[in-house]
Amino acid sequence: MTNNVKIFDTTLRDGEQAPGFSMDGGQKLRMARALADLGVDIIEAGFAVASPGDFEAVQTIAREITGTTICSLARCNTGDIRAAGEAISPAKDARVHVFIATSPLHRQYKLKMSKDQVIEKAIAGITLALEYTDNVEFSCEDAIRTERDYLKTVVEHAIAAGATTINIPDTVGYTTPEEITDLFRFLTTEVDGAAGAVFSAHCHDDLGLAVANSLAAVRGGARQIECALNGIGERAGNCALEEVAMALRTRADFYNLGTNINTSKIYMASKMLASITGNPVSRNKAIVGANAFAHESGIHQHGMLANRETYEIMKPEDIGLEADNLVLGKHSGRAALKHRAEKLGFTLSDNQLQSVFVDFKTLADKKKEVFDADIEALLLGEAIGAAGPWEIDSLYVSAGSDSFSGGNNQPEATIRLSHEDGRKRSMVKCAGGPVNAVLLAINELTGHDLHLDSFNARSVTEGEDAMAEADIRVSKDGESFHGRGTSTDTILATARAYLDVINRIERRVKRTQNKNGKIQQPIAAQH
Ligand code: KIV
Ligand code: ZN
Repeated sequence: MTNNVKIFDTTLRDGEQAPGFSMDGGQKLRMARALADLGVDIIEAGFAVASPGDFEAVQTIAREITGTTICSLARCNTGDIRAAGEAISPAKDARVHVFIATSPLHRQYKLKMSKDQVIEKAIAGITLALEYTDNVEFSCEDAIRTERDYLKTVVEHAIAAGATTINIPDTVGYTTPEEITDLFRFLTTEVDGAAGAVFSAHCHDDLGLAVANSLAAVRGGARQIECALNGIGERAGNCALEEVAMALRTRADFYNLGTNINTSKIYMASKMLASITGNPVSRNKAIVGANAFAHESGIHQHGMLANRETYEIMKPEDIGLEADNLVLGKHSGRAALKHRAEKLGFTLSDNQLQSVFVDFKTLADKKKEVFDADIEALLLGEAIGAAGPWEIDSLYVSAGSDSFSGGNNQPEATIRLSHEDGRKRSMVKCAGGPVNAVLLAINELTGHDLHLDSFNARSVTEGEDAMAEADIRVSKDGESFHGRGTSTDTILATARAYLDVINRIERRVKRTQNKNGKIQQPIAAQH
């Protein structure tokens, strides 16, 4: 058994399928780049058969991302497996991940299949997947609630059929550390052919035990952990990648196992995911929460000054969080910004540097001190929000209490937009509130009619001149879109976030039109 645990990342599949975490193809590709940079061994890029968009996202990631294995999920049926196999085919290292439920509850109520039928379907699925790649993972969905003897039999058949990774999911987050150690010990020692396969844990967090259970599975012989950044995933989420990776690293004395994760990229990848999905992590979240390395109380600060190790088991630098927070000012040049960006984990092209530098100078003119969080907001804006087609040329808003005017003075927004095709439009709109006035004006100028589901604005740093970050979630035709905008002006940040959504929708329409109706359909959808 090796001393290395493979990190299988499912942020873009199990994570992305959770409500409120959806990403478009471009966002998934950016996240995949960050995950490859982080050093994950396998990226589960999606569930190719789920939709043409999912198929395309998996295929693009398979084409663009190197240095890691690209995987697609598939149920044990022909349509799913052919879609997965086709989608991952451009990858240098590709994996198909097939699954079928094995527990009595799932067999009886969901699949309506006997034990033997489940095994037959598993074998047929693995056999078909092997037509696309010899790297086939097989999962027994709800393995934890499956009869042990039967689980052993299914796994033996899966290995004999050619699966080289056997995943034992705790689909409903039900197990305990002691139980899962015992189960993995049993499977890795008792299953015929176990030595020819890597055993994998996939733990959900319904009881808050996903990380503990994954580590316990490793103690029992698992050598792959399936996890997601920020712990995102179905219901309460999956095992959090950053937690399990830092636990294995920090307690190497206990686990004596390594991973290929470059932990100094954790912070930036976590931030990027939070920004892309519009779901910030809570302040007290382990490893990546804002308080994870903050020492507020006097007693702690006293100890920390004497020796950091009094209260710190990991260094902020270990996850890529720099200690010297106050960084640049208005006299700082491009080289300083580039250097700072690199320290924060961003590699900028010359064009990106130029564009961020312009924003940075504007910001530095307004703010006395520019902090890492401000720079991150600018960099993430550059990395996340691909430009256009609409841009805000100017925005002016008047708002306030109208108790003296008898309710006649409504907040008013005057906005001017330009489109990359040369259109320039302006509009004045009144409404019950300034944000409402801005959004109504943008709707009318761009011709979109979106339903606002949620809106959040927060400051990324402290002080009156702090940068504001706005997150907007809208739905259109039953689909949910998320947009993000930043500025030192909260209303402008909000307008940018709203326009970010509209730009995403328009870019998607354009991409579809450009393909002249030749959108690649997943195999299943073609039949
Ligand atoms: O939780 C689960 O069982 C899964 C499988 C599809 C691996 O996500
Ligand atoms: Zn899962």
